[in-house]
Amino acid sequence: MMNREEAYKLVKPHLTEHRYEHTIGVTNTAVELAEKYGADVRKTETAAIFHDYAKFRPKDEMRQMVVDFGLPKDLLDYSTELLHAPVGAILVKKEIGIKDGEILDAIHYHTSGRPNMTLIEKCVFLADYIEPGRKFPGVEEVRELATVDLDQAIVQSIKNTVNFLMKKNQPVYPATFETYNDLVRPREKGETNGRK
Ligand SMILES: [Fe+2]
Ligand SMILES: [Fe+2]
Repeated sequence: MMNREEAYKLVKPHLTEHRYEHTIGVTNTAVELAEKYGADVRKTETAAIFHDYAKFRPKDEMRQMVVDFGLPKDLLDYSTELLHAPVGAILVKKEIGIKDGEILDAIHYHTSGRPNMTLIEKCVFLADYIEPGRKFPGVEEVRELATVDLDQAIVQSIKNTVNFLMKKNQPVYPATFETYNDLVRPREKGETNGRK
């Protein structure tokens, strides 16, 4: 596996200066979360560095890739902002050569989430929301929750996102609701809501 500096060098040409700073913030935050909650630190770090790899690909190119690579077609009915995550996972595999499924999944699901997220996926998803460069209303409450409960922090971030989209009469991608439902559903003792 490549080290952090090598990985930053590979991702930098694909990002704006602002998005590169965001990526560094997400990586630092995701690694902290991984250490705190016991996710694989190296895999979380790599996923975080490449999570926005496809952010600036032309929109029509990304739409075409949804068709060509057999990604869920309903992605095309929602904000094009959703596309860079699943498309990014494919491009990181093809162009960077990262083949680890857990890393690629964390990139794929970093915007929508999904039910039964792995710890790596959760750390990248939440870090994307709370990294130090994020300034939006409600982020401080999610940062506080992230110090005590990974799942509750994600739940609160989804509530904020859904409220924001609803205020603007924007559609909400179903996987976002599925992720929320999965995390608020009561569990049996000993049952987890993560993969593996
Ligand atoms: Fe993203
Ligand atoms: Fe991001």
